[in-house]
Amino acid sequence: MTGSPLSYGPDDPRAATLVTLDGPAGVGKSTTARAVADALGYRYLDSGSLYRAVTLALLRAHVPNDRVDDLDAEALRGLGVAVRPGAETLELLLDGAVIPDAELRTPEVTALVSHVARLPAVRDWLFDAQQAAASQGRLVADGRDMGTVVFPQARTKVFLVADPRERARRRLRDHGVAEPTEAELAGETERLMARDAQDEARAVAPLRRAEDARELDTTHLSFAEQVAQVVAWARGEAAGEASGIREGAPEGSEGDGSV
Ligand code: C5P
Repeated sequence: MTGSPLSYGPDDPRAATLVTLDGPAGVGKSTTARAVADALGYRYLDSGSLYRAVTLALLRAHVPNDRVDDLDAEALRGLGVAVRPGAETLELLLDGAVIPDAELRTPEVTALVSHVARLPAVRDWLFDAQQAAASQGRLVADGRDMGTVVFPQARTKVFLVADPRERARRRLRDHGVAEPTEAELAGETERLMARDAQDEARAVAPLRRAEDARELDTTHLSFAEQVAQVVAWARGEAAGEASGIREGAPEGSEGDGSV
């Protein structure tokens, strides 16, 4: 299990300004989280990029796949990955140089990352960096275990879902394939679902909805609509904290997520 104690609890005012977005691959968490952070003036944590940075470092170091499971904290330290807090987000460095986003998102990294992310040593190692990002509150964090494990104290938790073929269509469009063939769509859907299956099945911090998370199905929502819904929920929680009305607010007054 991930180690360090939480730096503050759910009743701390900072918890009212923590927003978590979890969900399966390709559901639009990162773009949504970034836009929500912009709208709220909060910092943004893309936790997937941390797992991708470790994976990239392993590929660069030519660590064979069957040796990955033997990694311990010392070996991880030796990979040369560092996390540096920036003004709006965390910067990831490899051997002292900032890692360009494109290098974190190559097909090679994407194919291996869920294998690496299931290792307790890797998750433990990245836990503190993620907690540190939230030390002042005012953070939007996206990933698979933000609401369940890393920031259970967050007041606004959202679990994004969307039909797998729609997720595959969006992902292909983001990669410049506006009109995919049936084979391209089927292949991408299969890759996304394989990654989800691996993330859901792992023993440590599996992908799942936190009990107190609101589910937002984005299959038929525009990007602007899904951002607006999350921003509204987050503003409601932060305002409730500021005016002390949170305890008395009627349950369900903010909708059930199916906008
Ligand atoms: O979000 P993204 O697709 O970049 O995440 C890449 C992979 O990193 C995921 O498939 C998952 O295996 C892992 N991940 C994780 N926990 C997180 C974020 C990402 O295990 N909080």
